[in-house]
Amino acid sequence: MKIALYPGTFDPITYGHLDVLDRASRLFDRIIITVARNSSKSPLFSSEERVDLINEVTKDVKSEAELVVKTFEGLIVDFATQENARAIIRGLRAISDFEYEMQMALVNRKLTGIATVFLMPHEKFTYLNSSIVRELASLNGDISHFVPPEVEKRIKAKLKK
Ligand code: COA
Repeated sequence: MKIALYPGTFDPITYGHLDVLDRASRLFDRIIITVARNSSKSPLFSSEERVDLINEVTKDVKSEAELVVKTFEGLIVDFATQENARAIIRGLRAISDFEYEMQMALVNRKLTGIATVFLMPHEKFTYLNSSIVRELASLNGDISHFVPPEVEKRIKAKLKK
């Protein structure tokens, strides 16, 4: 069984992430969407809330692969070994992503030999990230083009508190 991790902060998951997931699901049998717990970022949603949201928005997605959502702490390569993953999936949106992604991929490969598979999301998502979504939502901007309705609903509820 070909297993891959798709790690990230997912604060929140966007249509861009779902696009990468769709492409990855044609290459692997099982994809573990891996929510980083110890991010240097201070997330709007707790890791449990992010897992819950990802489960919610992926439950009706038609996927050739089995999709599983988990959280992790520590080194991504250790989690990959623990889960028998043969690859790490990362989305590459623009050249500006490349330097950081290359560094991570090479360090991870040096540590355990694991491969990183880069997938390009649809062009219409190349400018998208989760910070922009959070900022737009906090200023009452329309985020419906960028995130599924359930995410929109929960982000608005969260910001109201
Ligand atoms: N569509 C839309 N947005 C996307 C995207 C896509 N396809 N792919 C990435 N993004 C956005 C994310 O929303 C995020 O936006 P934000 O910065 O506004 O929150 C941004 O791009 C960064 O992406 P993300 O995928 O969440 O990566 P990250 O840099 O936050 O997380 C980890 C990277 C968690 C995978 C990495 O730090 C890690 O592996 N950490 C564990 C510790 C470790 O092993 N360290 C050694 C690594 S060499």
